[in-house]
Amino acid sequence: MKQKIIIAGSSNTDMVVKVPHIPAPGETILGSGFMTISGGKGANQAVAAARAGAEVLFIACVADDAFGTQSVEHYKKDGIDTSCIKVTSGTHSGIALINVADDGENSISVAPGANSLLLPEDIQACGKVLADAKIVLTQLEIPMTTVLAVAKAAHSNNIPFILNPAPGTEIPEELLEMTTLITPNETEAAIITGRDKFTEQDIPVMAGELINKGVQTVILTLGSKGVFLKSATFEGFIPGYQVKAVDTTAAGDVFNGALAAALAEEMPIKEAIDFAQRAAAISVTRMGAQPSAPYGKEIKEYKF
Ligand code: ATP
Ligand code: RIB
Repeated sequence: MKQKIIIAGSSNTDMVVKVPHIPAPGETILGSGFMTISGGKGANQAVAAARAGAEVLFIACVADDAFGTQSVEHYKKDGIDTSCIKVTSGTHSGIALINVADDGENSISVAPGANSLLLPEDIQACGKVLADAKIVLTQLEIPMTTVLAVAKAAHSNNIPFILNPAPGTEIPEELLEMTTLITPNETEAAIITGRDKFTEQDIPVMAGELINKGVQTVILTLGSKGVFLKSATFEGFIPGYQVKAVDTTAAGDVFNGALAAALAEEMPIKEAIDFAQRAAAISVTRMGAQPSAPYGKEIKEYKF
């Protein structure tokens, strides 16, 4: 039987331009292609988890515009339960403007729109469905008060709560104390632990500081270099997979979605990380956020 994961988070439509390099401040450059692609950290993670093999319920807020309607249709096609997606009026659905450079790197600006209207009471309204989840996962493209409501609901039902603290911002102590597993990248870990800059030597130190703040397990993601894991039973670097990067957009989201799916199936943590790193590496070989998320069979069988 598929394990149930609840993901609360953002739903965006990504407007993607292929560019030779990321433009500097004040610079205008000509791109070579334009795509409209389903995105948003919450939605990307929901799609990645569903394709990796989990039963997913996605809690989100979209506007009553064409982008919102189209996004919900896409989630349904991926078998995601959309019954807790709120449709609101008077604003636009979430939009992201993305430049993808020839080396696969990106720059992203987000206009949250309806994502800002996913409120704590919307989480409380989904209380019954939250109570029987195997894992709850969220990110930070929705209001912090809503993220706290999600964490409290998971905590009070003894459900493991995964926080992907992206985009990077300071985090209330109370939220970290309720977090079972946190998955920052290096920049996000530096912001949470109050650093302006960091070196490789800071990675284990930052992971230790997050544990001291009450988090049970830290998976610090390091892009093409893999991850640093600090748990009750293991501390160290775990390399990722070498691929030719076409578009790294949503690599972190695919990692988190696949990780949650693997942990919901009770895979041991290092195996779950391997599964998630395989999924994320496959995703960077393809353009776009949600279109790049692989399915379970491909994740297991892909030859690197
Ligand atoms: P993003 O913001 O691009 O979605 P992120 O900064 O949250 O990602 P990363 O640390 O860049 O997260 O990537 C998450 C995981 O994805 C990495 O730990 C790694 O397993 C995989 N990954 C990312 N980039 C690459 C790459 N270029 N090659 C192979 N694997 C990658
Ligand atoms: O993490 C990638 C995502 O960030 C994009 O899909 C974009 O919508 C922004 O939310």
